[in-house]
Amino acid sequence: MIKGRHIIEPTDLSVNEIDQLSTLASRIKSNPEKYLDALKGNLLATLFYEPSTRTRFSFEAAMLRLGGQTIGFSEPNSSSVSKGESIADTIRTIGCYADITVMRHPKEGAPKLASKRSNIPVINAGDGGHQHPTQTLTDLHTIKSLKGTMSNNVIGFCGDLKFGRTVHSLVKALSRYENITFIFISPPELAIPIYIKDILSNHKIIELNSMEDILPKLDILYMTRIQKERFFNEEEYLRLKGYFVLTKKKLELAKKDMIIMHPLPRVDEIHTNVDNDPRAVYFQQAKYGMFIRMALILKLLKGDNHA
Ligand code: CP
Repeated sequence: MIKGRHIIEPTDLSVNEIDQLSTLASRIKSNPEKYLDALKGNLLATLFYEPSTRTRFSFEAAMLRLGGQTIGFSEPNSSSVSKGESIADTIRTIGCYADITVMRHPKEGAPKLASKRSNIPVINAGDGGHQHPTQTLTDLHTIKSLKGTMSNNVIGFCGDLKFGRTVHSLVKALSRYENITFIFISPPELAIPIYIKDILSNHKIIELNSMEDILPKLDILYMTRIQKERFFNEEEYLRLKGYFVLTKKKLELAKKDMIIMHPLPRVDEIHTNVDNDPRAVYFQQAKYGMFIRMALILKLLKGDNHA
């Protein structure tokens, strides 16, 4: 399957391919020794024009744990980007050295543009407020591993649904599964965009401004932070920051088997007193992110001819 392709949108992978990646990620997790040399001799380039902890480190860890090596920048000003080099020229140059590249960029569409000029697979590691397909793979793998299935769940998305690319990306991917109820909980100013709701024309959608009444009905609560870096106005950010805070007390309303996900980083939307609740799976989710990225780069570089 998928060898050599670019991954720009979550739907660049079929439901079946995502299922296969999830199965491979679970195999790698339970038997990592088998994959130690799987990508020996291969090089991954990480081009991060925006800050990251999980995405960049999990990709780098994934490549190193598969026996490959990494190069890249986390600060574009340390590269010739600071001299005005274009994305097209940067990606063509990187293709001279690496076998696969991962790009995060503040501008929507930048990784897609790069993929058109690239002779090696480009993976979108988040473009502006648009998409974040490998976070989506992480989220789907987490849901499959902990809830057994994507279908037949009531999923609450809470926080900044306007700018949150992980929500846009996950909703798009989930639209292909059966019988999901989408609950969008946000301040009116940060509501889910209409173009995302349009994807869900065959699904049940509820939009709310508070979480308490709906908490008892949720199978999955997907919390997000208010995206400070996407606001034009600091005052507006400060007004909306802290609109939702999930606390231990509020969690008393939720099902015993609900899971609380968060792409992280967290600011203050989940109180730290929730972290030890068995339903809080966000750090486990971050770990799943490394295994699914191992599966992805292995498939992109080796197809089905891997260890
Ligand atoms: N979830 C996520 O994209 O985290 P980072 O910004 O730390 O990569």
